[in-house]
Amino acid sequence: MKNSVHYRPTQVAINLEAIKANIGNLRQYIGSLTSVIAVVKANGYGHGDVEVAIAAFEAGVQMVSVATPDEAVRLRMAGISGDILVMGPSPTSFAAKAAELDIIIAVSSAEWLQMALDYEEKISKPLKIHVKIDSGMGRIGLRDAASLQAILSIVEHTEDVQLDGIFTHFSCADEGNQGTTEKQFAMFKGLVQTLREKPRIVHASNSAAALLYRDYGLDAVRFGIGLYGIASSDYVAKKLPFTLERALQIESELVHVKYVEAGTPISYGGTYETTEGEWIGTIPIGYADGLRRGLRGQDVLVGGERAALVGTICMDQCMVKLAREMPIGEKVTLIGRQGQEEITMEEWAERLGTIPYEIAVSIAERIPRIYIGKDGQPI
Ligand SMILES: Cc1ncc(COP(=O)(O)O)c(C=O)c1O
Repeated sequence: MKNSVHYRPTQVAINLEAIKANIGNLRQYIGSLTSVIAVVKANGYGHGDVEVAIAAFEAGVQMVSVATPDEAVRLRMAGISGDILVMGPSPTSFAAKAAELDIIIAVSSAEWLQMALDYEEKISKPLKIHVKIDSGMGRIGLRDAASLQAILSIVEHTEDVQLDGIFTHFSCADEGNQGTTEKQFAMFKGLVQTLREKPRIVHASNSAAALLYRDYGLDAVRFGIGLYGIASSDYVAKKLPFTLERALQIESELVHVKYVEAGTPISYGGTYETTEGEWIGTIPIGYADGLRRGLRGQDVLVGGERAALVGTICMDQCMVKLAREMPIGEKVTLIGRQGQEEITMEEWAERLGTIPYEIAVSIAERIPRIYIGKDGQPI
């Protein structure tokens, strides 16, 4: 794998060995009858879709999945040759391309499938589909046996479609409320049982369910956030059956350091004024990189200690109040570990009133991703 040359000392370091370890531990936990689908949508939750997909296949996953047709095409074009599933909706105009590139797509209705088959661009080889069941998420998917039967009737009368799988998605598996997940699973199983022939892969679980509802593993689990070493929620974090290894760090360095007297305004609007003589460092990362303005006041790690961001976060830079004079070039960790201290995506999420998923996918593409090995060195 080639890490590209870049000059700004801000980078996202991704440890692919952590991702492989999370898959290895999951595989051991769920057992050999259940396989893993690695969810690499949204650029691998910000970690790099192609790199994560390669690492995931090396770690033994059966398939990777994405949300959109374009994400799937991107992976195929980048040379990913294993199974790719588009879990979200596709336009009927994508069906022929999906078949050509051997991309599996989700189908929610017979009407959609018929329109895809009738589309002007004809399917050149069998289109592989996974039927999506809405067992309670209320997003996409069919909700009753008659709708499932309607899809089967089409599949039975054409060589152009291959029913490869059937799946559903849990809405509350990361919460304490088990009843909803149990109900969803029962509804899904009930519909699957109406099939005369079981397709190759029946799957339901996301990360939370894979970790907390081992009995719901079926043929495969779709492992997303857990792949990257992050628990789906605080509730899941407290019940993890094995330790998840975090894969991502955001690192930068001090590019400017100055001592200022008490009463010195810092950054746009001068809304922060030093209350004493202070050492102020500048870090080349800002809201265009995903360091949202709401993270004003958030700690970063410098010299193994926590230090708070002060003043308004700018588009490309921000300022930190240092405990003492520090050299230009001193490493700053915005997410990750220095010694005993760690700043997590969950900590950012809490400050911003959101979930770690949103933090991961909001780390801008503009920050280069550097892939590191076990020793922390670029690979
Ligand atoms: C259909 C589907 N399956 C699986 C996942 C993965 O979920 P998680 O990241 O919680 O494992 C997602 C993500 O939202 C999804 O939309």
